[in-house]
Formats: sequence, C-alpha cells, structure tokens
Amino acid sequence: MKKTIAVLYGGRSGEHEISIRSAKSIIAALDPEKYNVREIFISKEGAWQPAPLLPAPNANPGIDVVFPALHGTFGEDGTMQGLLELADLPYVGPGVLSSALAMDKEVMKRVCRAHSLPVVDFIVQFRGALDAAAIESQFGYPVFVKPANLGSSVGVAKAKDRASLEAALNAAAQYDRKIIIEKAVIGREFECSVLGNETIEASIPCEILPSREFYDYEDKYLLDKAVIELPAKLTEEQTQEMRRLAVAACKACEVEGMSRVDFLMDGATGRIFINEVNTIPGFTSISMFPKMWEHSGIPYPQLLDKLIDLAIQRHETRNATRYSK
Ligand SMILES: Nc1ncnc2c1ncn2[C@@H]1O[C@H](COP(=O)(O)OP(=O)(O)O)[C@@H](O)[C@H]1O
Ligand SMILES: [Mg+2]
Repeated sequence: MKKTIAVLYGGRSGEHEISIRSAKSIIAALDPEKYNVREIFISKEGAWQPAPLLPAPNANPGIDVVFPALHGTFGEDGTMQGLLELADLPYVGPGVLSSALAMDKEVMKRVCRAHSLPVVDFIVQFRGALDAAAIESQFGYPVFVKPANLGSSVGVAKAKDRASLEAALNAAAQYDRKIIIEKAVIGREFECSVLGNETIEASIPCEILPSREFYDYEDKYLLDKAVIELPAKLTEEQTQEMRRLAVAACKACEVEGMSRVDFLMDGATGRIFINEVNTIPGFTSISMFPKMWEHSGIPYPQLLDKLIDLAIQRHETRNATRYSK
C-alpha cells in the first residue's frame, strides 16, 4: 500500500529559503509508485498551510511518516521533533534530545569531548559579559566567533585582531545570548554523511574548498564558487578515520536516522577535528548529503526510502516502551 509522506518545509529560521529548495528536491525524488505526498508549508512568521499538525495521537489522520525538511531554529533543534513525538507520528531524522544538543555548538562539543572525540578548543561567553581581552590572552589570533545556536554561517566571523574580535562578538551576540569562540584551524574542511538507527553507517567523505576566507553564507548559497571534491583526496587511512569519527560523533550525540558530520583538518599536523553535527542537512539537488550517498552507492530516491524506513522502525521500537506503570 502507498504511504503518505507529509513534507514539512519553509519555517521560521533564516534557512527558510534553503528549506523550500530541500523540500522541492525531496518531493521530486519520492517514488510516486510508493508514496503520496502531502505538502505542509510553514511561513516565515510561523503560519502553517494548509493547517498545523496537532499535538495528539491519532489527531492527524492519513499521515504515515513526516519528513521535516526544515533547517535551523524551530525545525532542526528538537522543537518540531517534540511536536511530532506528542503527535505519535514517525518522522525522518534524529529525535528531540539529539536534535537539540547537536544544534547547540557548545553542548555538542562538550558531549564529544566527554567521549574523548577531537574538537577544537573553545571558550563560551554571554551577551552582556563579552570579554575580548580574555579571549585574546587565552587563544591569541585568529579565532572563530559564532552564535551557539544557528547555521548557514550566519553570524560567524573570523577575527584576526582586537578590533575585528570585538566587532565579531557584538555581531554574534545579535543572534544568540550564548557565543562560542574557537581557535581557528588552518587547513582543510570535510563533510561525511551518516545513516542508520542502532547501526550507523558513514558515507565516503567529501572536501569543501571555500572560495573565500572561510565557508561563509555567500560561499554556501550565493557565489557558487566553492569547489567540492568527492571523494575527498585523503589517504585510505585518513578516510577510514574520518568515517569512524563521523559514526562516533553520532553515537555520542545519540543521532538516529541521519546526519552530516563536518570536519576541520589542521594542515600542519593532519589532526582531524569534529566541527559540527547537522541533523537535518541540506537536501537540494546540489546538497552534499545526498551526493555523498549517491557516490557511496545509494541514489537519491533509495536514500529517501531508507530514511522513511528508519523513521518507521524507530517509531515501532519506541512504541514498545511503556510510559506508565
Ligand atoms: N574553528 C574553526 N577553524 C577554521 N574554520 C572554521 C572554524 N569554525 C568554523 N570555521 C569555518 O566557518 C564555517 C561555518 O562554521 P560552522 O561552525 O560550520 O557554522 P554553521 O553552523 O553556520 O555552518 C565552516 O564551514 C568553516 O569554513
Ligand atoms: Mg557548518
């Protein structure tokens, strides 16, 4: 029997437009022999069209699986996942805890560190108590300044001196109360996709070669000049190490379903650092998550089949849990 997939897209985050592009690609690639698609659009103001999903079991008839093709705040950060849990609907991608912790760049790094996984040194400061001198004396320059909870490089800046550090802190503080400051890794940048619930598998990694100082918003979405190497030019050993770390980072963050794990490599030492776990990676026709899987032997439509199966499997496993005595 055909399954009905509700594709959620748009949303209140700065990644609204990217989400629309991701959803279009997903809808186009869902096999019409297997699936009916129900589109649910969320405006930038948070209005649902045609109607919101309701937070109660059996209150959303006719939907078999939800595909939240939403990026960033209110879509990728556990809030939407919470609604889908209340609604008792199977959904694609990680659950509430994993989504929320991966969204927070500081918490994610703390969790990785607790599992002895390599992350760059960082400092956390809060709006209203920003202290450039303390960062300068601990790390020197260059450093990266980021809002703790955001994506698409919005509010991210590389600071090379006191003046640019102060400007970067003030800019980042507009996007979040919590700011994370990291030592800059001078070297290369990679991405690796993962798939699975209890057993997580990693794809062949790719390398991102930004056309600018770093992989900023313009480079990601506007310029179309960043170069992608797929497969990444790494030794067999380095490739295996990156894939191992991608799986380990996802295990540490309790990822289920999918994620894209991003890495930085120090050019001088070859050391690899986990930079980010993206729980709802881009799904546009040029996005790296589906491209890496395609290169690893799973074409886009089959990738969607797998993600939907993983969502159903997880939902069944959860439903075996008792919630009261
Ligand atoms: N510590 C760092 N060292 C070197 N480059 C970094 C560092 N942190 C971030 N970058 C650069 O900034 C980009 C955006 O930072 P990232 O942490 O990935 O935030 P976002 O969630 O916005 O993608 C990265 O893709 C990379 O090019
Ligand atoms: Mg990133």
